[in-house]
Amino acid sequence: MHLSKILFFALLNASLGSAEQFLTCNSGIKVTHKSTGFHLTSSEINWGSGSGQQSVTATSQNGDSTSMWMVVENNDAAESCAPGTVMSCDSVVRFTHLVTGKNLHSHNFRSPLTQEQEVSAFGEDGKGDGGDDWKVVCTKGSNWSTDTPFYLQHVATGKWLSSSNQARFNQQNCPNCPIVGQLEVVGIRQKSDASIWVVQRGAFLLDKDA
Ligand SMILES: *[C@@H]1O[C@H](CO)[C@@H](O)[C@H](O)[C@H]1NC(C)=O
Repeated sequence: MHLSKILFFALLNASLGSAEQFLTCNSGIKVTHKSTGFHLTSSEINWGSGSGQQSVTATSQNGDSTSMWMVVENNDAAESCAPGTVMSCDSVVRFTHLVTGKNLHSHNFRSPLTQEQEVSAFGEDGKGDGGDDWKVVCTKGSNWSTDTPFYLQHVATGKWLSSSNQARFNQQNCPNCPIVGQLEVVGIRQKSDASIWVVQRGAFLLDKDA
């Protein structure tokens, strides 16, 4: 899917879906780490270690379109899911980063700060591989909604998407990095409070920050 199409769907969804609680296929969303309030984001800089792929971190910046992701069908799905389809709480999905068209990804590389499993953004125009699939595991309910705190389990490795205030990029561990002040995002073996996320739908694309 081309980026222009992705952006179009996200805008369509944002304008139609403001009152809707359930998360639907092709929703443009922001994914927020529950305990820190930081947002899952990616920027066009590559990891200087590990895979060397595009970085994924958590940022405190709000209202920034670089933190927008689109929820799409998993890598093995025969066809695109229809926009508006309610996603159940055990869905396997991908998250396509709107600004760069790359998918939230993980694999057997070490993360730069804590040496946990690295998380990156991978692929082109929303097309990547099986390492882009994540299972939504809700803490309650049967449909994934804006009121549902949830975990994301990386399907290929079983690791849980997590972040922490204790793993922050700063001038010591990342001199002059554009991601100073942001938190590392990793896959960990045992899910914990650090692995709980919440989601917001929205028209964040309308701001011109990025
Ligand atoms: C979940 O979503 C489906 C499809 O929209 C709907 O039929 C069902 O009632 C929802 N379940 C709950 C518990 O709201």
